[in-house]
Parts: sequence; C-alpha cells; structure tokens
Amino acid sequence: MGRTVLVTGGTSGIGRAVAARFAADGADVVITGRHRDTVESAAEELGVRGLACDATRPEEVAALAGEPAGSLDVLVNAAGGLPAAPDAGAPPLEALARQWLSSVSANVLTAVLTTAAVRDRLAPGSAIVSLGSIGAERGGGSYGAAKAALAAWNASLAAELGPRDVTCNVISSGYVAGTNFFGDGMTEERHRRLVEETLLKRPGTPDDIARTIVFLASPGARHITGQTIHVNGGAFTTR
Ligand SMILES: NC(=O)c1ccc[n+]([C@@H]2O[C@H](COP(=O)([O-])OP(=O)(O)OC[C@H]3O[C@@H](n4cnc5c(N)ncnc54)[C@H](OP(=O)(O)O)[C@@H]3O)[C@@H](O)[C@H]2O)c1
Repeated sequence: MGRTVLVTGGTSGIGRAVAARFAADGADVVITGRHRDTVESAAEELGVRGLACDATRPEEVAALAGEPAGSLDVLVNAAGGLPAAPDAGAPPLEALARQWLSSVSANVLTAVLTTAAVRDRLAPGSAIVSLGSIGAERGGGSYGAAKAALAAWNASLAAELGPRDVTCNVISSGYVAGTNFFGDGMTEERHRRLVEETLLKRPGTPDDIARTIVFLASPGARHITGQTIHVNGGAFTTR
C-alpha cells in the first residue's frame, strides 16, 4: 500500500510539485489551499484529493484531523508567503502590526496548527517537512523573522516527536521560479539579482525542492531531524 501524504499549500508552486512527486510514487495524497476552485482544479490535474482549508484558521484546520484517513506518513507544511500588502490608509503602527501578524500567521501558525491537528496520527518512521526561507538568515524583514521562528519551532518539535521516530526538518529555500510567491512583484532586474546571488547561476525550481523533500521522507534520511536544510543554489552557504 502507498504512503499517506498531506501537503498544505499544494495548489501551486512548491507544494504542488511535492504532491505530484508523491502521487507519482503511488501515495494517497491530500492537498490544501484557501480557495475551493483552485484546490479542486489542482487536485483533479494531479490525481489527488483536495480540501479547501485556510491553515491560519483553527476551525478549518480541525477538519484535517482525519485526512488522509488512517495514519499519516508525510506532512509537508508548504503553505506560506509574503505578508499581505499594507492598508494604504492605516496609521503607521497599525499597518506595521498587521504586516507582522500577517507574516507570522502565514508562515508559522499555518505549520503549528496543521501539525497539532495531525500529530497523533503520525506513524513511526514518518516525516514532517516545513518550508522555510533563506530570508531567515539575512534581511528578510517580518517574513524572514517568521521563517526563523518556524525553524526554532521545528527544533522543539523534533525533540518532542523524535522518541516516536518522527523526523522534523525545515527546507531553507532560496529564489524558486515558477511559483505564485512573488505575485506581480518580480521584475527582470530582481530576477537577475537573485540568480546572480546563487553559486549555480540559476533560480531553483519547485521540483528541486520537491526532490529534497522526497529524500527527507525516505529511508535514507531517517537520522536527519531538527535541521534546516539549505536548498538555494548556494545563495546562502553555512560556512
Ligand atoms: N518561491 C520562492 O522563491 C520561495 C522562497 C523561499 C520560501 N518559499 C516558501 O515556499 C512555500 C511555498 O511557496 P511557493 O513559492 O510555492 O508559492 P505559491 O506558489 O504562492 O504557493 C503557496 C501555496 O500555499 C497556499 N497557501 C497560502 N496561504 C495559505 C493558507 N493560509 N492556508 C492554506 N494554504 C495557503 C497557496 O494557495 P492559496 O493562495 O490559494 O491559499 C499555494 O497553494 C511558502 O512557505 C514560501 O514562503 C518560497
């Protein structure tokens, strides 16, 4: 029987590539996203099941408790992104507060709530992988701070779940093209600059990240936990 896999934010970009990889391997995959129409169309195209669920909303996340049915082998917390655009008319401190709450909510709370909803069903030998960012290491503002918090949470989660033989890791992704992450905020100049920062002189692809996640959920990665794995073409090096 195939493995059971839950991918939050599986309708586009990295989460979608992850779902496609596990589905091709015969897994029972469930993807989520906030919008019913995109969830349904992505699920149909991928041949997986889809559930509309805003991972920042506890009452919606509670509905994931039985998805997929039975025990869970892989949880991928891909839902996340840049903070909502500031409200033009809001007083500066209110706008700042909203930006920070939006970043933390989108990038930390999503993973914390989803993991809490399914953790009792994680089978021995299972894996949790959460999507972090190179922004946690340098100049990421509220978004980077939220991704740094995600990595700190991951370390404590790994300590809690390690005795159950559940691994927990964060992928620190650099610039990945072919996603909706930047919205209309990508320019040719920005693209050039981000590519130039890499040692491989190319952006990442969603599949670069998906393949790393497949590895982290494989038997060959059973002694890797509590880590931040840098998959960014060398744009950030650990030494
Ligand atoms: N692309 C990059 O260069 C890059 C770099 C570093 C890190 N990352 C991280 O990689 C992860 C995946 O992003 P991506 O690049 O693949 O961007 P993307 O194409 O925008 O995908 C984000 C996915 O998350 C979903 N989502 C967002 N907020 C959600 C919520 N509250 N609840 C449920 N689903 C939610 C989106 O669907 P809906 O909008 O329909 O809900 C979509 O399926 C994110 O955590 C992002 O921060 C990306």
